[in-house]
Order: sequence, then structure tokens, then C-alpha cells
Amino acid sequence: MPDASPTKWHRAHTTWFFEQFLLTPHLPGYRVFDEDFAYLFNSYYVAAGPRHARPRRGMLTRPELPRVAAYRAHVDEAVERLIAYADAAALSEVLRILEIGLHHEQQHQELLLTDILHAFAQNPLAPAYDASWRPPQAQHKAAPGFVELPAGLNTIGHDGEGYSFDNEGPAHQVYLRPVRIGRGLVTNAQWFDFIADGGYATPSLWLSDGWAAVEAEGWDAPGYWRKADSVWLQFTLAGLKPVEPEAPVSHVSYYEADAFARWAGKDLPSEAEWEVAARAGLLDDAFGIVWQWTRSAYSPYPGYRAAAGALGEYNGKFMINQMVLRGSSHATPAGHARASYRNFFYPPARWQFSGVRLADYAT
Ligand SMILES: [Fe+2]
Repeated sequence: MPDASPTKWHRAHTTWFFEQFLLTPHLPGYRVFDEDFAYLFNSYYVAAGPRHARPRRGMLTRPELPRVAAYRAHVDEAVERLIAYADAAALSEVLRILEIGLHHEQQHQELLLTDILHAFAQNPLAPAYDASWRPPQAQHKAAPGFVELPAGLNTIGHDGEGYSFDNEGPAHQVYLRPVRIGRGLVTNAQWFDFIADGGYATPSLWLSDGWAAVEAEGWDAPGYWRKADSVWLQFTLAGLKPVEPEAPVSHVSYYEADAFARWAGKDLPSEAEWEVAARAGLLDDAFGIVWQWTRSAYSPYPGYRAAAGALGEYNGKFMINQMVLRGSSHATPAGHARASYRNFFYPPARWQFSGVRLADYAT
């Protein structure tokens, strides 16, 4: 699958990130581990040179795993040396890039799991990645209704405390109209109703691009769902399991989230509404279960400027044609989630742990 990468590639790529952006510019005399690796393990940084095509990462059977591990050990040792011996003038920039590299690696830790899940799902034996894995449990066993968000001026965006990616700023004011936001996440039981009511067979519920995806991909249920003897099963990190009605729905695309909301007579919240409600503690399961699609296109906040140089390519150049997801999933590393975090994927994507929270503008 063009969007997914092999585990070995993730490990080598996150290692390359430290080598490319931290060690080569900042550690005098640093010796690159292998001159060929930049081509293999540069993801999308045009300013850092040519690179292997993303859809073909799965073809990289070499280097073998021990060489990737040796690459990591080489880079780890050099990073430790850099931290120990950097002079005071250089240290703040060294630590700034090191911190970006660590948060970058946390993002790939989540991708490791979503990409393994996708790869294993292609295997007719339905292998378990972790037989003890269980779907994360929501706080509520049934739809818990909506919370009111009053009209008014609110500040969103990261405002300085702790780490953030550049796309989370500048903080700025937004005016919100009154809205009710789902206190909890949409569940599999609600999705059963959507399916039973012909949700996947009713073009009027879908955006044009969404309906094209339904037809082209043959979608009739969320990603990884399979029907066996009229029972819905879901391929999970623990292998093939019955779909749990009370669990929040996962692995739905933006198109499906949008169609479900239309079917329910509701909307998806904007990312500003989501953030204001999450900061106020109004939302249950905002973090740690599934990312939640918003109705907001991924675009720059007012006054956003990408940094100069290759690291400026991290977020800014992707601010087109994608939708924002908020919150975090159970695969998100601890400490990586925050209210201002802006995740983003293309509307058809559903290999991530992506779910739905509704909004309601009816008065
Ligand atoms: Fe990356």
C-alpha cells in the first residue's frame, strides 16, 4: 500500500533524521554511516536530496535488519557524544533539533503499528501482532449525548508551554457560533445502524469523491471489517475478532465520517470547536482511543510561516487537500497528545486509527 512503510524502513528513516538534521550539521568530524542510506531513507525532504519512491519502500529487502540496527547504534552513539561535548553556544540549537527528532520518532512509533496492522491484514492467515491486544474501551457504553459550546471568541493554537509542531501555531482567536458537540465517540453499534440503513448504498449521503471511493474500493463497512456467516469481524492487532458494538468505530475515512454525519442529521465539528471543547474538558475520550476527523481542511493558521531549510518541509508543504484530525489514538505514544495537535490525512485514508465525533448546529 503506497502510504504504508515496512518496520525496517521506519527504524532506518527515524535514524536518518537524526543523522541528516542533527549530526551532519552539528557534530564536527561526524562520519556518515553509509553514503547510500540518505537515498533510501529520506522520506520527503526535497532540500535534503533525491530519494527512493515512497510506494516502493516495501521492495527494500536490503539492507538487512542487523545493518539497520548497526546504523541506529552508530547514530545513537554519535548523538550522545554531541550532547556531551556541544559547547554552550551550540547546545540550544542541538537540543531544539534533537527534540524535533524525538517527536518525529514518536509519530513513526504510531505508524509502525498502523503499517504492521495493514501488512498483516493482507495475510490470509490473519496473524496476530500481539495476541493480548484489546480494543480500547470508551468511557460510555452508550451514546452519551451532546455538550453545549456557547457562542464567543476563543483562542486556539499552541501558546508556548511545552513542545509543539510548527503547524500548531500561531495561537489566534476564532469566533464560534453555538454548537453542540458529541460528548463521546461514535460507536460500532451506531455504525451497524448506518450500514443496515443502506449507508454505503445511498449516493445522496456522500460527497462526490467519497461516492467514487465507495464504488472504486467496494467499501461496505469500515476498514478491516469482514463479514463471516453474517457476523462482522474486524482484523485487529490481535488478529480477527468480532466487532464489539460498544467500542468506538475505527478505521473510517473522512468520506465515511462525513457520510455518517449526514445520515445522522449532524455534522463533524470544526477543529476550532473540537479544541475549545477539549480544553474546557467537555469531551470524553478526546485522547487515547481514536483520532477524530474534523470538518476543517488542513491549512495554515493566520500568520503561519514554515521555517527556512529542509526542516521547514516537515508540515507546511502538506497544507493542501487534506483534512485535520484531532485528539490521539491508543497507538499514540504517551506524552505525544495535546489539545492543539493537528494531525492530517487525505480524505480516503483509513488505515489509521481514525474515528468520529459528531457536532450539531440545530438550535
Ligand atoms: Fe518521517
